[in-house]
Amino acid sequence: MSELVTVTDEGPVRTVRMNRPDKKNALTMAMYEAMAAGIEGAGTMPALRCLLIAGAPTVFCAGNDIGDFLKAAGEGGALGAPILRFLYALARCEKPLVAAVQGNAIGVGTTMLLHCDHVVAGSEARFSTPFVSLGLVPEAASSLIAPRLLGHARAFSLLVMGRPLNADEAKAAGLVNTVVTPDALEAEAMKAAREIAALPPQGVLASRRLMRGSVDEIVARIDAEAELFKTRLQSAEARTAFEAFMMRKR
Ligand code: COA
Repeated sequence: MSELVTVTDEGPVRTVRMNRPDKKNALTMAMYEAMAAGIEGAGTMPALRCLLIAGAPTVFCAGNDIGDFLKAAGEGGALGAPILRFLYALARCEKPLVAAVQGNAIGVGTTMLLHCDHVVAGSEARFSTPFVSLGLVPEAASSLIAPRLLGHARAFSLLVMGRPLNADEAKAAGLVNTVVTPDALEAEAMKAAREIAALPPQGVLASRRLMRGSVDEIVARIDAEAELFKTRLQSAEARTAFEAFMMRKR
């Protein structure tokens, strides 16, 4: 079996790539652990100056593995330590984060982008967070960051109404920096990562800290959302939605 997450260092850029294309890069606990380790590890390596989060060629990430959600619902509903480790790693990461998004970015596939500093999207990219229709609540501090970034109305449309954004809409909303053709995506994202990596690192670090505000506030929101998520995961609404997804092809 090929690795479901690969971590590759090329000069000053570390690429953390989700690689479970047959399941549309739905994230398992092992994948969260591997992604968290890749992000945390970069923090201790001065030679690495920028991180690039990427997916498989035609899909970024279909969100949390819904089978895992069903399992968690039956076991008390906690989000799971690997998920929280990944979310904390994003929140506490001091290196700039670039993302290359192609195809679907669903659930955490979109909310992880709120922690990124520069997002490049393929023209076919689609961003959605169907938390509420799945009986859940937003996570990854998206309830804090999305209204700040997009404004309340657009954040509500995305996070609560579950209306998707295409690449151009995501750019207009401020979630995406650049939209390129799918075949140009990886090169464009790497170009941006290298551009950031070539800047004076202490200047980038200090500027980024100033711009991101309180990491403690972000972490506290991740925790508050996780508490609510735990209750929602065990709700009849969520169970019905997960079971409908699992049964849809039978
Ligand atoms: N959890 C578990 N498995 C998932 C998954 C998820 N979040 N997303 C996709 N998969 C699996 C499918 O079950 C399918 O597995 P199978 O081949 O064994 O049947 C495989 O990935 C391919 O998905 P499929 O639905 O056949 O592809 P598609 O191109 O028709 O649709 C998506 C792709 C991403 C739009 C669709 O799979 C989807 O809506 N996934 C759920 C997204 C979601 O709600 N995530 C949770 C957010 S909180």
